[in-house]
Amino acid sequence: MATIDGLVIKDAVKVERIGVHSHIRGLGLNDRLEPAQTADGMVGQLAARQAAGFIVKMIQEGKIAGRALLITGEPGTGKTAIAMAISKALGSDTPFVSITASEVFSTEINKTESLTQAFRRAIGIQIKEETEVLEGEVVALEIDRPASGVGPKVGRLTMRTTDMETIYDLGSKMVDACIREHIVAGDVVQVDKASGRVTRIGRAFTRSHDYDAMGPQVKFVQCPDGEIQKRRETVHTVCLHDVDVINSRTQGYVALFSGDTGEIKAEVRDQINKKVLEWREEGKARFVPGVLFIDEAHMLDIECFSFLNRAIEGELSPLLIMATNRLISKVRGTDIESAHGMPSDLLDRMLIIQAEGYTSEEISRILRIRADEEGVKIDSKALELLTKLANSTSMRYCIQLISVAEVLRQRSRKESVTTEEIGKAYKMFYDSKRSEKFLTDSFIQ
Ligand SMILES: Nc1ncnc2c1ncn2[C@@H]1O[C@H](COP(=O)(O)OP(=O)(O)OP(=O)(O)O)[C@@H](O)[C@H]1O
Ligand SMILES: [Mg+2]
Repeated sequence: MATIDGLVIKDAVKVERIGVHSHIRGLGLNDRLEPAQTADGMVGQLAARQAAGFIVKMIQEGKIAGRALLITGEPGTGKTAIAMAISKALGSDTPFVSITASEVFSTEINKTESLTQAFRRAIGIQIKEETEVLEGEVVALEIDRPASGVGPKVGRLTMRTTDMETIYDLGSKMVDACIREHIVAGDVVQVDKASGRVTRIGRAFTRSHDYDAMGPQVKFVQCPDGEIQKRRETVHTVCLHDVDVINSRTQGYVALFSGDTGEIKAEVRDQINKKVLEWREEGKARFVPGVLFIDEAHMLDIECFSFLNRAIEGELSPLLIMATNRLISKVRGTDIESAHGMPSDLLDRMLIIQAEGYTSEEISRILRIRADEEGVKIDSKALELLTKLANSTSMRYCIQLISVAEVLRQRSRKESVTTEEIGKAYKMFYDSKRSEKFLTDSFIQ
């Protein structure tokens, strides 16, 4: 989440309701990176979760340049779920960019540009900035309005801390800012000297008895101590890609809002790299290398793979995590058969985590967690039946049946979902195996 001038900007597109992975809150590991059978919404998959935990640790310690991770396993074994758990475990301060391999193939920008942008979105920079502010309790605010009613206003602001009191002359801009913020005597305010922005921090405690009625939004604070003029250190976190966009002359910062960034010249990127590395040397900026997650990685082609080979070895590279459910298949764009549909030189650079299948008990637990997440009451017999069905069909299909069964329960006004609703839902919607059988039975005789 970014903040601009105190406004919190939420990434509205990625806000999920009850999504497929919304029950996952982390990797479910303890301090010694040992996984619990069920924790943070994750069930089983112990070895993979522990390995993912080590990766998280490495990211947090910043030891990840030149690394890549591949999560493999059959469809529905929780590869994407593990990646989501990694993102949750990292917390919101570390950038986590998640894309699907097919997003790279767009007609507007070429594949490598699209990958480069994704890479650079996954690198955060924390830029430190020192600003001078005036902070104190307003003792009096006098505004002189011109007698004719038009023309610039001037005024005086008396501010105090517990140690001193000073009068400042205000120009018309500052007067307007104070009027806009409804500043009155007794407010504790902060004035940014560079921009002239006035922010109300709260009301002074000493004034808490001034009025009988006050809304719940009024915050009481202590009158500041020390000098009125203070130095404040603020830290802005931006990603390298945003810096690129702002500095690319053809696009400008407006492109940040439209998302229509086009291609960014290599020279611009080189210059920015040089600049931010300089800032790092001077202690003004800190890099926060994050994670770029590419799901369905077998959809990338040979050109993308060769680009990745080199990109992960760059100095400013995030950790690359890829997931695929392919076993041996053709590398896209070639006739070469290779493990996971990826060239062997890239596979050689990667650490591989294998997601394994689930036991019936684990499936039952995952289904129970999903039912809880969706707020669906399900009785134990129904859950047993659902688990059995998951063994003959797939876990994913049974997760979907939960919501269908819930709609059926509402219609029959029952307390909880029973085997009857599960049975009905099962008959109503086919799973892939039955659908395939239906096709073969009716067309190939
Ligand atoms: N260990 C687990 N704990 C809790 N939920 C899980 C676990 N594994 C999988 N799930 C849930 O099961 C569903 C299917 O898993 P997921 O989408 O991660 O499979 P996948 O391995 O990415 O499959 P595909 O190869 O088809 O992309 C998701 O809703 C996921 O959240
Ligand atoms: Mg997946």
